[in-house]
Amino acid sequence: MQLSLLFLSSLAAASPLTALDKRQQATLCERYGYWSGNGYEVNNNNWGKDSATSGQQCTYVDSSSGSGVAWHTTWKWEGGQNNVKSYANCNRQVPKGRTIASISSLQTSISWSYSNTNIRANVAYDLFTAADPNHATSSGDYELMIWLARLGGVYPIGSSQGHVNVAGRDWELWVGMNGAMRVYSFVASSPINDFSADVKQFFNHLESSQNFPSNSQHLLIFQAGTEPFTGGETTFTVRNYSANIA
Ligand SMILES: *[C@@H]1O[C@H](CO)[C@@H](O)[C@H](O)[C@H]1NC(C)=O
Repeated sequence: MQLSLLFLSSLAAASPLTALDKRQQATLCERYGYWSGNGYEVNNNNWGKDSATSGQQCTYVDSSSGSGVAWHTTWKWEGGQNNVKSYANCNRQVPKGRTIASISSLQTSISWSYSNTNIRANVAYDLFTAADPNHATSSGDYELMIWLARLGGVYPIGSSQGHVNVAGRDWELWVGMNGAMRVYSFVASSPINDFSADVKQFFNHLESSQNFPSNSQHLLIFQAGTEPFTGGETTFTVRNYSANIA
Protein backbone atom coordinates (compact mmCIF):
# COMPACT_ATOMS: atom_id res chain seq x y z
CA MET A 1 0.00 0.00 0.00
CA GLN A 2 2.71 2.45 1.05
CA LEU A 3 4.74 1.42 -1.93
CA SER A 4 1.95 2.32 -4.38
CA LEU A 5 1.39 5.66 -2.66
CA LEU A 6 5.08 6.45 -2.98
CA PHE A 7 4.96 5.38 -6.61
CA LEU A 8 2.07 7.73 -7.31
CA SER A 9 3.63 10.70 -5.59
CA SER A 10 6.88 10.21 -7.46
CA LEU A 11 4.92 10.14 -10.72
CA ALA A 12 3.20 13.37 -9.78
CA ALA A 13 6.53 14.96 -8.96
CA ALA A 14 8.04 13.78 -12.23
CA SER A 15 5.32 15.33 -14.43
CA PRO A 16 6.21 18.79 -15.75
CA LEU A 17 4.69 21.40 -13.47
CA THR A 18 3.76 24.62 -15.17
CA ALA A 19 2.16 27.85 -14.00
CA LEU A 20 -1.16 26.45 -15.21
CA ASP A 21 -1.03 23.66 -12.65
CA LYS A 22 -1.10 26.18 -9.83
CA ARG A 23 -4.53 27.36 -10.95
CA GLN A 24 -5.93 23.87 -10.98
CA GLN A 25 -8.61 23.15 -8.43
CA ALA A 26 -7.61 19.52 -7.92
CA THR A 27 -5.06 16.90 -8.95
CA LEU A 28 -6.47 13.39 -8.63
CA CYS A 29 -3.98 10.52 -8.96
CA GLU A 30 -5.39 8.07 -6.44
CA ARG A 31 -7.50 5.22 -7.81
CA TYR A 32 -10.77 6.92 -6.81
CA GLY A 33 -9.42 10.45 -6.41
CA TYR A 34 -12.45 12.71 -6.03
CA TRP A 35 -13.41 16.38 -6.18
CA SER A 36 -16.77 18.11 -5.89
CA GLY A 37 -17.98 21.68 -6.21
CA ASN A 38 -20.76 23.79 -7.71
CA GLY A 39 -23.07 20.78 -8.09
CA TYR A 40 -20.51 18.75 -10.06
CA GLU A 41 -18.03 16.05 -9.13
CA VAL A 42 -14.94 14.66 -10.84
CA ASN A 43 -13.53 11.18 -10.23
CA ASN A 44 -10.26 9.67 -11.49
CA ASN A 45 -12.08 6.29 -11.24
CA ASN A 46 -9.30 3.87 -12.23
CA TRP A 47 -11.66 0.98 -11.43
CA GLY A 48 -10.30 -1.46 -14.05
CA LYS A 49 -6.58 -0.75 -13.68
CA ASP A 50 -5.83 -4.29 -12.46
CA SER A 51 -6.38 -5.57 -16.02
CA ALA A 52 -3.39 -3.48 -17.20
CA THR A 53 0.15 -4.82 -17.20
CA SER A 54 1.43 -1.26 -16.72
CA GLY A 55 0.27 2.32 -16.84
CA GLN A 56 -1.15 5.18 -14.86
CA GLN A 57 -3.73 7.93 -15.00
CA CYS A 58 -4.24 11.27 -13.26
CA THR A 59 -7.21 13.61 -13.58
CA TYR A 60 -7.17 17.38 -13.07
CA VAL A 61 -9.96 19.84 -12.38
CA ASP A 62 -9.01 23.01 -14.26
CA SER A 63 -11.88 25.34 -13.37
CA SER A 64 -15.51 25.17 -12.33
CA SER A 65 -18.63 27.21 -11.82
CA GLY A 66 -22.33 26.49 -11.48
CA SER A 67 -22.56 26.50 -15.28
CA GLY A 68 -19.85 23.97 -16.05
CA VAL A 69 -16.51 22.31 -15.34
CA ALA A 70 -13.23 22.26 -17.28
CA TRP A 71 -11.05 19.22 -16.56
CA HIS A 72 -8.55 16.89 -18.18
CA THR A 73 -7.06 13.46 -17.67
CA THR A 74 -3.69 12.07 -18.80
CA TRP A 75 -3.17 8.34 -19.16
CA LYS A 76 -1.09 5.51 -20.56
CA TRP A 77 -2.21 1.89 -20.26
CA GLU A 78 -0.71 -1.33 -21.59
CA GLY A 79 -2.10 -4.89 -21.55
CA GLY A 80 -5.65 -6.22 -21.42
CA GLN A 81 -6.55 -4.62 -24.72
CA ASN A 82 -10.26 -5.49 -24.44
CA ASN A 83 -10.62 -4.33 -20.84
CA VAL A 84 -11.63 -0.85 -19.71
CA LYS A 85 -9.07 0.56 -17.26
CA SER A 86 -10.94 3.56 -15.91
CA TYR A 87 -13.77 5.98 -16.37
CA ALA A 88 -12.41 9.39 -15.47
CA ASN A 89 -15.50 11.54 -15.58
CA CYS A 90 -17.39 14.59 -14.47
CA ASN A 91 -20.83 13.97 -12.97
CA ARG A 92 -23.66 16.43 -12.58
CA GLN A 93 -24.92 15.71 -9.07
CA VAL A 94 -28.47 14.37 -9.33
CA PRO A 95 -31.23 15.16 -6.82
CA LYS A 96 -32.45 11.92 -5.23
CA GLY A 97 -35.82 10.43 -6.09
CA ARG A 98 -36.43 11.81 -9.58
CA THR A 99 -38.01 9.31 -11.98
CA ILE A 100 -37.11 9.69 -15.64
CA ALA A 101 -40.80 10.40 -16.35
CA SER A 102 -40.77 13.29 -13.83
CA ILE A 103 -37.78 14.95 -15.53
CA SER A 104 -38.70 17.27 -18.38
CA SER A 105 -35.18 17.89 -19.69
CA LEU A 106 -31.57 16.76 -19.30
CA GLN A 107 -29.89 19.50 -21.29
CA THR A 108 -26.13 19.09 -21.58
CA SER A 109 -23.13 20.20 -23.56
CA ILE A 110 -19.51 19.09 -23.77
CA SER A 111 -16.49 20.23 -25.81
CA TRP A 112 -13.58 17.84 -25.70
CA SER A 113 -10.39 16.84 -27.50
CA TYR A 114 -7.80 14.07 -27.35
CA SER A 115 -4.13 15.02 -27.86
CA ASN A 116 -3.16 11.60 -29.27
CA THR A 117 -5.93 9.53 -30.87
CA ASN A 118 -3.78 6.47 -31.60
CA ILE A 119 -5.53 4.78 -28.68
CA ARG A 120 -8.27 2.30 -27.87
CA ALA A 121 -10.86 4.30 -25.93
CA ASN A 122 -14.28 5.85 -26.05
CA VAL A 123 -15.62 9.25 -25.07
CA ALA A 124 -19.02 8.71 -23.55
CA TYR A 125 -21.87 9.85 -21.39
CA ASP A 126 -22.96 7.36 -18.78
CA LEU A 127 -26.26 7.50 -16.92
CA PHE A 128 -27.56 4.86 -14.51
CA THR A 129 -31.17 4.43 -13.45
CA ALA A 130 -32.81 2.13 -10.90
CA ALA A 131 -36.24 1.37 -9.47
CA ASP A 132 -34.70 1.86 -6.00
CA PRO A 133 -33.98 5.60 -5.56
CA ASN A 134 -31.31 4.67 -2.98
CA HIS A 135 -29.47 2.27 -5.31
CA ALA A 136 -25.66 2.60 -5.26
CA THR A 137 -24.61 5.09 -7.95
CA SER A 138 -21.89 2.81 -9.38
CA SER A 139 -24.47 0.70 -11.29
CA GLY A 140 -28.22 0.48 -11.84
CA ASP A 141 -31.03 -1.57 -13.37
CA TYR A 142 -30.34 0.28 -16.65
CA GLU A 143 -27.37 2.09 -18.14
CA LEU A 144 -27.64 4.65 -20.94
CA MET A 145 -24.39 5.42 -22.72
CA ILE A 146 -23.90 7.97 -25.50
CA TRP A 147 -20.61 7.30 -27.27
CA LEU A 148 -19.36 10.55 -28.79
CA ALA A 149 -16.25 8.76 -30.03
CA ARG A 150 -15.12 5.18 -30.55
CA LEU A 151 -11.35 5.16 -31.07
CA GLY A 152 -9.20 2.18 -32.09
CA GLY A 153 -11.97 -0.34 -32.76
CA VAL A 154 -13.42 -0.78 -29.28
CA TYR A 155 -17.01 -1.97 -28.93
CA PRO A 156 -19.94 -1.44 -26.59
CA ILE A 157 -21.64 -4.31 -24.74
CA GLY A 158 -24.20 -6.44 -26.57
CA SER A 159 -25.28 -6.40 -30.18
CA SER A 160 -26.22 -3.75 -32.69
CA GLN A 161 -29.92 -3.06 -33.18
CA GLY A 162 -29.22 -0.92 -36.25
CA HIS A 163 -29.30 2.84 -36.71
CA VAL A 164 -31.67 5.29 -35.04
CA ASN A 165 -32.10 9.05 -35.20
CA VAL A 166 -32.21 10.77 -31.80
CA ALA A 167 -31.68 14.44 -30.93
CA GLY A 168 -31.11 15.22 -34.61
CA ARG A 169 -28.25 12.78 -35.13
CA ASP A 170 -27.70 9.27 -36.41
CA TRP A 171 -26.57 6.64 -33.88
CA GLU A 172 -25.96 2.92 -33.93
CA LEU A 173 -27.85 1.51 -30.96
CA TRP A 174 -26.27 -1.41 -29.10
CA VAL A 175 -28.15 -3.35 -26.42
CA GLY A 176 -26.77 -5.96 -24.05
CA MET A 177 -26.46 -7.06 -20.45
CA ASN A 178 -23.69 -6.24 -17.96
CA GLY A 179 -24.59 -8.75 -15.25
CA ALA A 180 -28.15 -7.85 -14.26
CA MET A 181 -27.96 -4.35 -15.76
CA ARG A 182 -29.38 -3.67 -19.21
CA VAL A 183 -27.03 -1.42 -21.19
CA TYR A 184 -28.10 0.82 -24.08
CA SER A 185 -25.24 2.40 -26.05
CA PHE A 186 -25.89 5.03 -28.71
CA VAL A 187 -22.70 5.15 -30.81
CA ALA A 188 -21.81 8.04 -33.12
CA SER A 189 -20.31 7.01 -36.48
CA SER A 190 -17.58 9.67 -36.26
CA PRO A 191 -16.29 11.70 -33.28
CA ILE A 192 -18.50 14.56 -32.04
CA ASN A 193 -16.13 17.01 -30.32
CA ASP A 194 -18.79 19.62 -29.61
CA PHE A 195 -21.99 18.04 -28.42
CA SER A 196 -25.13 19.65 -27.11
CA ALA A 197 -28.42 17.81 -26.59
CA ASP A 198 -31.32 17.05 -24.31
CA VAL A 199 -30.58 13.52 -23.05
CA LYS A 200 -34.27 13.11 -22.15
CA GLN A 201 -34.78 12.50 -25.88
CA PHE A 202 -32.63 9.35 -25.63
CA PHE A 203 -34.77 8.06 -22.75
CA ASN A 204 -37.92 8.91 -24.75
CA HIS A 205 -36.56 6.81 -27.60
CA LEU A 206 -35.83 3.90 -25.24
CA GLU A 207 -39.30 4.15 -23.72
CA SER A 208 -41.04 3.95 -27.10
CA SER A 209 -38.75 1.44 -28.83
CA GLN A 210 -37.21 -0.67 -26.02
CA ASN A 211 -39.93 -0.69 -23.32
CA PHE A 212 -37.73 1.32 -20.95
CA PRO A 213 -39.91 1.92 -17.83
CA SER A 214 -39.58 5.71 -17.37
CA ASN A 215 -42.28 5.85 -14.68
CA SER A 216 -40.44 3.59 -12.24
CA GLN A 217 -36.75 4.28 -13.00
CA HIS A 218 -34.91 6.94 -10.97
CA LEU A 219 -31.94 8.82 -12.35
CA LEU A 220 -28.79 8.08 -10.29
CA ILE A 221 -25.92 9.76 -12.16
CA PHE A 222 -25.34 12.01 -15.20
CA GLN A 223 -21.68 11.61 -16.18
CA ALA A 224 -19.46 12.30 -19.17
CA GLY A 225 -15.89 11.10 -19.56
CA THR A 226 -13.63 8.62 -21.28
CA GLU A 227 -13.04 4.88 -20.99
CA PRO A 228 -9.45 3.97 -21.94
CA PHE A 229 -8.61 0.41 -22.98
CA THR A 230 -4.97 0.75 -24.13
CA GLY A 231 -2.54 3.27 -25.60
CA GLY A 232 -1.06 6.62 -24.72
CA GLU A 233 0.36 8.62 -23.35
CA THR A 234 -2.51 10.88 -24.23
CA THR A 235 -4.53 13.69 -22.69
CA PHE A 236 -8.30 13.98 -22.84
CA THR A 237 -9.33 17.60 -22.30
CA VAL A 238 -12.84 18.82 -21.57
CA ARG A 239 -13.00 22.57 -22.17
CA ASN A 240 -16.50 22.65 -20.69
CA TYR A 241 -19.01 20.11 -19.44
CA SER A 242 -22.40 21.32 -18.37
CA ALA A 243 -25.55 19.41 -17.49
CA ASN A 244 -28.86 20.41 -15.98
CA ILE A 245 -31.76 18.40 -14.65
CA ALA A 246 -35.13 20.14 -14.96
C1 LIG B 1 -20.20 26.06 -20.30
O1 LIG B 1 -21.39 25.70 -21.00
C2 LIG B 1 -22.57 26.27 -20.44
C3 LIG B 1 -23.75 25.72 -21.21
O2 LIG B 1 -23.63 26.00 -22.57
C4 LIG B 1 -22.48 27.79 -20.49
O3 LIG B 1 -23.61 28.35 -19.88
C5 LIG B 1 -21.24 28.25 -19.76
O4 LIG B 1 -21.09 29.64 -19.90
C6 LIG B 1 -20.00 27.55 -20.33
N1 LIG B 1 -18.83 27.92 -19.51
C7 LIG B 1 -17.70 28.35 -20.07
C8 LIG B 1 -16.61 28.70 -19.11
O5 LIG B 1 -17.55 28.49 -21.27
